[in-house]
Amino acid sequence: MTCTAALALVAISPDVGGQQKAPAARAKSSGPTATAKPPAAASYAQRFAGLCAACHGANGRTGEPLTPVLAGQPSLYAITQLFLFREGRRSNEAMTAVAKTLTDDDLRGFSDFIGTLPPVPAPPPAAPPDAVRMAKGRALAEQHKCVFCHGADLAGGQQVPRIGSQHEDYLRASLHGFQSGSRPGYTQAMTAALSQIPEADLDILAYYVARFPPAGK
Ligand code: HEC
Ligand code: HEC
Repeated sequence: MTCTAALALVAISPDVGGQQKAPAARAKSSGPTATAKPPAAASYAQRFAGLCAACHGANGRTGEPLTPVLAGQPSLYAITQLFLFREGRRSNEAMTAVAKTLTDDDLRGFSDFIGTLPPVPAPPPAAPPDAVRMAKGRALAEQHKCVFCHGADLAGGQQVPRIGSQHEDYLRASLHGFQSGSRPGYTQAMTAALSQIPEADLDILAYYVARFPPAGK
């Protein structure tokens, strides 16, 4: 991946990781009876079930149109977004309130857990997709190089999110948010990608991406 975003992200990861090493090192030096060990991976599965699943679903997918599907999301993407919410750079009443309570260990633990959730396909659509809008959306995704960063399968990877089969309403809100600046990205990648796209075409992109992969493909 040659996106500039890949380079910029290197700046955050060691920082988050570095901060989380300190308590671990202390726990080690204070002997075998120390209680301040970093929580085990299994406990994040439990904490996700207790704290996150009510909104995001136990398997990372609910039908709630504005609550994003986390299933299949790369852990590196998840950690950058949790970081943005915690630092108040990405804002949403529900999610910011949760993120403010998370430590660096938590950012890492929850994102690692999200990275283990397999993708969950969208339920079968109530109506067959509109062929004209699907064709237009596909052409837009190629013309504007969405596939260059998000992949031909729209599954993302590393710091780039999976977008295929994400909820349409959430996709539409995200695209308009990036374009208007109300959702600042971790990098400028999305603002740049959307800068030349007419607003109405964002809705067609959301329509297409939410129904990707098209049935039978
Ligand atoms: C009260 C409901 C609620 C709870 C509880 C909640 N979330 Fe969220 N979460 C949301 C909503 C709504 C969004 C989308 C916010 C937006 O549109 O900007 C979101 C966004 C996210 C995102 C960004 C996804 C993306 O595609 O960009 C991640 C990652 C995330 N949540 C992880 C978590 C984790 C981990 C927990 C538990 C520690 C959690 N959430 C608890 C409602 C919730
Ligand atoms: C240069 C690489 C690049 C290109 C081109 C690109 N994206 Fe992105 N996209 C990203 C990155 C990186 C993010 C993570 C955003 C951040 O920085 O917080 C993202 C985030 C998103 C999100 C938010 C997903 C979520 O779960 O919140 C959507 C939706 C999206 N892109 C759709 C598109 C569409 C549609 C196109 C084509 C018009 C496109 N992207 C083009 C790199 C790219």
